[in-house]
Amino acid sequence: WAPLSSGKGRPVGAAQVFLEPTALDSSTASATRTVWVVVGLVFAILWLALVLLVRGAAARLSRQNDVLMGRSRDLSESSLRLEENLMETIETLNAAVEARDPYTAGHSQRVRRVALAIGRELSLSAKQLGTLGTAALFHDVGKIGIPDSILTKAGPLERNEAVIMREHVTRGAEIVSKVSSFQDIVHAIRHHHERWDGLGYPDGQRGNDIPLEAAIIGLADAWDAMTTDRPYAHGLTLNEAMLQIRSCREKQFSPAVVDAFWRVAKRHPSDILPPEAPTSALVAV
Ligand SMILES: [Fe+2]
Repeated sequence: WAPLSSGKGRPVGAAQVFLEPTALDSSTASATRTVWVVVGLVFAILWLALVLLVRGAAARLSRQNDVLMGRSRDLSESSLRLEENLMETIETLNAAVEARDPYTAGHSQRVRRVALAIGRELSLSAKQLGTLGTAALFHDVGKIGIPDSILTKAGPLERNEAVIMREHVTRGAEIVSKVSSFQDIVHAIRHHHERWDGLGYPDGQRGNDIPLEAAIIGLADAWDAMTTDRPYAHGLTLNEAMLQIRSCREKQFSPAVVDAFWRVAKRHPSDILPPEAPTSALVAV
């Protein structure tokens, strides 16, 4: 209860209020339920909005991912096509070099055959033999930039002409370096005219500093030049060429490569001889 007062503060009575506790409990419980339902609804709406948002974003991301994957695939295919085109271009340049000089026709294939025979004798791995074969095939591709007057000159080259001719190793290395799958052959091409005694070019490398593939190609190249008729220097006989190779051991050529070449000549002469030469032609070994 509570006292009731007049305007002037004089007590005039009392007021008493009776509460029914059950009704109060039920009203409180109902209000609590309402609050929980509202909270639950708000959370449900928020959760639904979140799910829709995430699903939308995921779908967008998936679409963007598909587009990116497609572009990446296109890019790889283009890069592969570009690589193939470059390889074909180099093969064409190589063929053009040989076509310009009839005396070197088939030279790169013959150098490749002899180089691989020496490489097998030296127990090179399959990967090294692959590098060796490709490098041998393209070792003179840099001659594409050499003028005809020098490339096909019937006679010894003047000093300034020889300087230009020597550039074919660096030009060749630069050409093949454009193809990513040819990176392994760049050094073999650049150094195939180095000499064991350091008097070669372009870098004057000596001994075992010269990449093995380059040293093998150098010998195979010299062997082919010695045994092929040229307008200004008739090819040596096969035996003379063999003896010349041996006399250049530790001067122009790596001793290990000369020895391997000699063993091949002895055991498998058909691997290094010109196809038309009888295997009995090598009496020097
Ligand atoms: Fe060369």
